[in-house]
Amino acid sequence: MFFSVLLVAFIASACAKTVVVTVGGNTTDDPMGVFQPVNVMANQGDVILFNFTMGNHTATQSTFASPCIPAHDTDVTINGFDSGFRDTVNGTAITTLRFTVTDNSTVWFFDWNTCAQGGVGGININESSFETLDGFQRNAIRLNGTDDSSTSNDANSTATATATSTSPASTNTGSATSAANHALINGLAAVIPALAVLASMSL
Ligand SMILES: *[C@@H]1O[C@H](CO)[C@@H](O)[C@H](O)[C@H]1NC(C)=O
Ligand SMILES: *[C@@H]1O[C@H](CO)[C@@H](O)[C@H](O)[C@H]1NC(C)=O
Ligand SMILES: *[C@@H]1O[C@H](CO)[C@@H](O)[C@H](O)[C@H]1NC(C)=O
Ligand SMILES: *[C@@H]1O[C@H](CO)[C@@H](O)[C@H](O)[C@H]1NC(C)=O
Ligand SMILES: *[C@@H]1O[C@H](CO)[C@@H](O)[C@H](O)[C@H]1NC(C)=O
Ligand SMILES: *[C@@H]1O[C@H](CO)[C@@H](O)[C@H](O)[C@H]1NC(C)=O
Ligand SMILES: *[C@@H]1O[C@H](CO)[C@@H](O)[C@H](O)[C@H]1NC(C)=O
Ligand SMILES: *[C@@H]1O[C@H](CO)[C@@H](O)[C@H](O)[C@H]1NC(C)=O
Repeated sequence: MFFSVLLVAFIASACAKTVVVTVGGNTTDDPMGVFQPVNVMANQGDVILFNFTMGNHTATQSTFASPCIPAHDTDVTINGFDSGFRDTVNGTAITTLRFTVTDNSTVWFFDWNTCAQGGVGGININESSFETLDGFQRNAIRLNGTDDSSTSNDANSTATATATSTSPASTNTGSATSAANHALINGLAAVIPALAVLASMSL
């Protein structure tokens, strides 16, 4: 029993993969292309490696309803990841941020400098649900884009419509991800396998 549990833990960790998301595509031409790929599928235990290769960007976790606001600011129960600004100094200072996936729920994220133009992405997006990547990008542009300033009436009706249509979704996202996202600190990735071993020893 002890060894079979250990074996399962070993196999699970051996199968964990690293998925690279390149941050800093040609954002002059295509602000929405800052994250490549923009939607990644990952299993529990997999590592998402954000590779900051061009420009000056962040990878910051948010929520579906508030794409351009750090998750913790709209839901204190989510300790979302946030790379802070990673200036690549014209591509000469490449840095990375690792995020370990803790469950199957969708994780949304954005770049501070291009969010208003749709510089957002997600992990495990369910395109069959109401919370699609397109919807997330539209929310980002509506809520933070420059269109809002053109006419105040438009801004008001757009903001109201968006808030109304996304509020049920935001509730779902919050409850679905909050528990898992307590554990988003990088170091915990190392703790989880250790806990699995401890659990197996007490059997
Ligand atoms: C980005 O795209 C613009 C417009 O297509 C182009 O002028 C520019 O050279 C591109 N920059 C890079 C670094 O590829
Ligand atoms: C990050 O991107 C740079 C430049 O393309 C590349 O040399 C490097 O191998 C990448 N790092 C990872 C971990 O993929
Ligand atoms: C990166 O972008 C942020 C926000 O636009 C800015 O405050 C910061 O100074 C920039 N960093 C560099 C090194 O340009
Ligand atoms: C950045 O790199 C490009 C292409 O190598 C070069 O043309 C440009 O002068 C560089 N800019 C700075 C500020 O170093
Ligand atoms: C996550 O998805 C995998 C594969 O679809 C499944 O085996 C696993 O039970 C799911 N985990 C949770 C916590 O739903
Ligand atoms: C988007 O707009 C909200 C509300 O005005 C603001 O709090 C947030 O900082 C903005 N996000 C970005 C990335 O500028
Ligand atoms: C995706 O969303 C649809 C509609 O809400 C749901 O039926 C389906 O089970 C979801 N798929 C996953 C993998 O959660
Ligand atoms: C938006 O609508 C609300 C309620 O109708 C109103 O109180 C507010 O002044 C409006 N704001 C703008 C910027 O038009």
